[in-house]
Amino acid sequence: QRKNCDKVFIGSIDQGTTSTRFLIFDNDGVLVTSHQLEFDQIYPQPGWIEHDPIDLIKSVNKCMIEAVRKFEMMGYEASAIKTIGVTNQRETVLVWDKNTGKALYNALVWCDTRTAPTVKKLRTKEGSHKVAHMCGLPLATYFAGVKLRWLIENVSEVRDAIKEERAMFGTVDSWILYNLTGGKDGGVHVTDISNASRTMFVNLETQAWDDWLLEFFEVPRHVLPKIVSSSEHYGDMASGPLQGVPIQGCLGDQQAAMVGQKCFSQGQAKCTYGTGAFLLFNTGESHVTSKNGLLSTILYKLGPDAPVIYALEGSVAVAGSAVKWLQNNIGLIKSEKDIGKLAAQVDDTGGVYFVTALSGLFAPYWRDDARGTIVGLTNFTNKRHIARATLEAVCFSTRAIIDAMRNDALVPLQILKVDGGLSNADTAMQIQSDVLGIEVERPAMRETTALGAAFAAGLAAGIWKSTDELTKLTVNAHDTFEPKIDEKKRNKKYKEWEAAVERSYDWTRV
Ligand code: G3P
Repeated sequence: QRKNCDKVFIGSIDQGTTSTRFLIFDNDGVLVTSHQLEFDQIYPQPGWIEHDPIDLIKSVNKCMIEAVRKFEMMGYEASAIKTIGVTNQRETVLVWDKNTGKALYNALVWCDTRTAPTVKKLRTKEGSHKVAHMCGLPLATYFAGVKLRWLIENVSEVRDAIKEERAMFGTVDSWILYNLTGGKDGGVHVTDISNASRTMFVNLETQAWDDWLLEFFEVPRHVLPKIVSSSEHYGDMASGPLQGVPIQGCLGDQQAAMVGQKCFSQGQAKCTYGTGAFLLFNTGESHVTSKNGLLSTILYKLGPDAPVIYALEGSVAVAGSAVKWLQNNIGLIKSEKDIGKLAAQVDDTGGVYFVTALSGLFAPYWRDDARGTIVGLTNFTNKRHIARATLEAVCFSTRAIIDAMRNDALVPLQILKVDGGLSNADTAMQIQSDVLGIEVERPAMRETTALGAAFAAGLAAGIWKSTDELTKLTVNAHDTFEPKIDEKKRNKKYKEWEAAVERSYDWTRV
């Protein structure tokens, strides 16, 4: 029996670092159904992290098929899904051959640190001091541009394809859009402006690929995708259960979470605790240059004629991935969900600090020589303390970012909106509020990243008319965490954390 309803639906692809999801929302922004698949992380050497490009696309297709099947089982028609949005892990890089549509190397994942020597070399190059000022990003292993540089220098297939002008470069958004719209048989080669701003090739002033930056990185313009806005018609699904449905929204996942959390006004901020943790602060139509290790980035451009909105971002390389490491590499917990329960069994860490620099340290430190470091172990220490120290590490890293934002003279946050996997752990969010000394607000519906991509697609499809209309949509219920420790204790703990961070740097020096 088919449901006869006046609702329309929006599909959302959320391609993250460890899993892919397809979610279906209705025009009230309510999540109707979804499907999720984890995929393999490839670790060829210490510090190297890759994804199989074919696996990425297969996981997207499978999630879509399964979610649409569940949707139909609920009595809906697939044809009620009017548009699709895409959101993705950012800075992860692929190069493929336009003649075959095949990737020329595995995807280099954003937290891969193999580019440390590439970065070192680039830092000594003439003009290197101008880079961060132009693109808003410091020279670091994190960003797509240095990963492309590594591919050019180290993979002959990539070099040859570039020479013969058959190479296409893209971040994960480009790879997905290319494949879903037909691949080598007419797939589009585009990237949305929020993803493009993570490459280091975009000038924040002109919001376009910049000749000087391209020359600095020695990257030819012909490999680059066309930059498009975050909300417009890119192409249609070439096959599958949603064949013919337009794809009309695209945002990097952290920017999408801002849209999903409805942070449309200057001064609003959120923190997403996924594989890493990412705190973004909306700076409106002007970009702010940080003097304290934060990134200036493009938040979104919701339509070809809409203004570009910027953000300041503090990126923490390791959050949920530290929990996964405790589970998979150390065997401390059986499932990620156990971390909160274990940590809640002790009131403090017994003096233990765990600097989770498993992929170096990102903002505000930018130290690719930092390594995971545990200090303060005694006979008293047990796994509960380590679990709690892991959660504290994420929360202290977030505090470092909020302090940097304050030092950049941004209006101090009164409330921090949160989402993402680790936000499900009450203990983690209570620690976060304690460490920051401000209220932490967690929405009941935490798929805000996917919702943001759905909003972008729905705006282009005319399902919603404006961000004002989105703001008025059914308010997402939330719970809040208030600080429970005093200022003195908070500051003492944070000072000790900073001392532990110092010890994680360049630890092999004698
Ligand atoms: O910049 C990296 C970020 O986009 C990864 O997000 O959710 O996979 O941790 P996530």
